[in-house]
Amino acid sequence: MPVSTALPITPAERLRGRLALPADKSIAHRALIFGALSGGPSTIGMRSPGRDVLSTVECLRTLGVSIEHSGEHYMISGRPSRGGALDCGNSGTTMRLLAGATAGMPLAVRLDGDASLRARPMERVATLLRVVGAEVTTTDGRAPLSIVGRDGLVRAAHRLPVASAQLLGAAVLAGMVATGETTIESPGPTRDHTERMLAWMGVPIHRDGLMTTVTGPARPRAFELTVPGDPSAASAWLVAAALHSDAELTMIDVGLNPTRLALVGLLQRMGVAIETSVTDVSGPEPVGEISVRGGSPLHPVDVSGAEVGELIDELPLIAIAMASVEGASEVRDASELRVKETDRIAAVVAGLAAIGAQVEERSDGWRVRRGSPRTARIITYGDHRIAIAFAIAALTGVASAVELDDPDCVAVSYPGFWDHLATVQT
Ligand code: S3P
Repeated sequence: MPVSTALPITPAERLRGRLALPADKSIAHRALIFGALSGGPSTIGMRSPGRDVLSTVECLRTLGVSIEHSGEHYMISGRPSRGGALDCGNSGTTMRLLAGATAGMPLAVRLDGDASLRARPMERVATLLRVVGAEVTTTDGRAPLSIVGRDGLVRAAHRLPVASAQLLGAAVLAGMVATGETTIESPGPTRDHTERMLAWMGVPIHRDGLMTTVTGPARPRAFELTVPGDPSAASAWLVAAALHSDAELTMIDVGLNPTRLALVGLLQRMGVAIETSVTDVSGPEPVGEISVRGGSPLHPVDVSGAEVGELIDELPLIAIAMASVEGASEVRDASELRVKETDRIAAVVAGLAAIGAQVEERSDGWRVRRGSPRTARIITYGDHRIAIAFAIAALTGVASAVELDDPDCVAVSYPGFWDHLATVQT
């Protein structure tokens, strides 16, 4: 469906479908980077990768890694062999993980990205890599970022300033080229794809509670991996079905890593009927189906503390679910949302007010309850998660109708989103 006919988005009569989602971008970035570190040849199966994942592909090619693809199969061989200017586009994961990877190589790189990425904090990753011996320069704490890496960094005991899987991943990648144990303590739970995938590739790494330990020097082995569907893309349909009175949707081949499924638990707490079933445990991550049925009355819910880290990418969609409920719901402790692809607290609150919800902005979140649905034009700030959240608001009647200023930005994580939005209504 061409983007122009996707607008304006209006409430659906009913929602039905079985959807195969784009490859999980967190896993895809890591598979590509770890594949490059292994030297290959490795093969990665990725269904309709988003622009962020393609940014990682292009950066690795700039570093001299060969990546060819035929349909969904990406063949990767050769290790990074030259430095250069790396364009990370809109992708924070590309920038932070590649910073960690290149810090441990005798290469000079300059990591840059679009205006959104240039506004995001990079001093955190720079500090962590300086501690272990890389030369890192930021631009007032942000990108562009220059790194002069070297073989054989020193091991360290890191305490991360924020619970971030990207920072943790960067510290692990640097730790892999140090001799001995590097430990990384996180202040809260994060997704554990780095640990799972590297352990599966033979690297001595494990996570115990909030502590990750990696022992270097270590190099991942070459591999063949099919990246499962993205549970964060599934979240759009979980919330859509949950909020619709006549909905039954199933997502197939989706990653069921427990560190990514907090939304399922949250929606169940709100009263939604959801079932998950694991169908494949042959790879580093469990894979299966998620089915959701609409029509249940929803209760208000609060999100705060450690749970925020596990729901970080889902909070814009959670805001829409909260805005469908009579009673007030709150998000607290989520100031990290202000430094995502855009200030997601400001964008969510402005969008909710525009579609008629009763909303109050807080420094670290929002309080929201149902209002009178209105038609609105939503400013996405080029942020895929804002665009998808407000499309779902319109599809489910939380808004009367929505027009997005930049519908194309969904392709950062979910290039087939508009097709799926049409499919579920037929
Ligand atoms: C990601 C980690 C999260 C998440 C991002 C992907 C990852 O960011 O928001 O979309 O793949 O490691 P933080 O590490 O900043 O929490």
